[in-house]
Amino acid sequence: MPEPIVSGLADRVVIVTGAAGGIGREVVALLHEAGARVLAVDVAQEPLDALLAELGAPEGRHVAVAGDLKDLAWHAALVERARDELGGPHALVHAAAVLRRRDSIDDITEDDWDAQVDTNLKATFFLNRTVAQALIAGGEGGRIVNFTSQGWQSGGFGGSVVYAATKGGVVSMSRGLARALAPHGITVNTVAPGAADTAMMRGGQTDEQLADFVKMIPLGRMAQPREVAASVLFLVSDHAAYITGATLNVSGGQLMY
Ligand SMILES: NC(=O)c1ccc[n+]([C@@H]2O[C@H](COP(=O)([O-])OP(=O)(O)OC[C@H]3O[C@@H](n4cnc5c(N)ncnc54)[C@H](O)[C@@H]3O)[C@@H](O)[C@H]2O)c1
Repeated sequence: MPEPIVSGLADRVVIVTGAAGGIGREVVALLHEAGARVLAVDVAQEPLDALLAELGAPEGRHVAVAGDLKDLAWHAALVERARDELGGPHALVHAAAVLRRRDSIDDITEDDWDAQVDTNLKATFFLNRTVAQALIAGGEGGRIVNFTSQGWQSGGFGGSVVYAATKGGVVSMSRGLARALAPHGITVNTVAPGAADTAMMRGGQTDEQLADFVKMIPLGRMAQPREVAASVLFLVSDHAAYITGATLNVSGGQLMY
């Protein structure tokens, strides 16, 4: 008989950022169901604590940590908490990001630029590097999954030019990191949602604008956040061992590549 298919995630330690967000919380839930241990990171403690309570995991099985990922000096402390309280880490799923929609490019301020670039791009590089250093020290390889968006290729809809630029950067950077980290057995991939039904997707858009977006999607609906999380689970599982530098298009056919 062939071996049963397993995810290889039992007792693996995964750092998940944006863990209180629409997609991030489903990533945490699926990892929990797959037997992994999670260091859940987001800006506020209370929603993270509520999420872990909902999962019903035994005390100490997962850890919730609140803070701002724009504070680059904090990243090392996150990795240390994962190592000291859970073991590992073995993987990073980096879902934290911000989107500031501006109807006209003339309305985009320097603060809009900085907030999105610092969170979505700059923090991604430094967090990836800090986690990669720990994965290399662990000597067992590892997995990094970053979040891009359909905007990386389309240039963005709904007043999201700067956001799209950061997400294009995430794709290029993840490809470079995939090449740099491959000799250490670390894979680096990106997930590119089209429209997933979360606060980020709905924020700053009227129902009519949202409906126009959905018209571009052959499957005719937004993704449920859990459907996006499932693609993340695949990329951190044993099934994706030979995939690196890839961008997984999870857009319901809105884009086809
Ligand atoms: N929802 C969509 O349709 C969609 C489409 C394309 C890409 N994405 C990407 O998917 C990922 C998850 O998006 P989502 O829809 O769940 O968004 P969301 O807004 O629901 O969740 C994002 C989370 O990131 C956290 N976060 C933001 N800045 C942070 C910081 N500086 N430090 C720590 N945490 C921070 C927020 O508090 C929030 O909980 C993002 O990277 C987003 O760009 C989403």
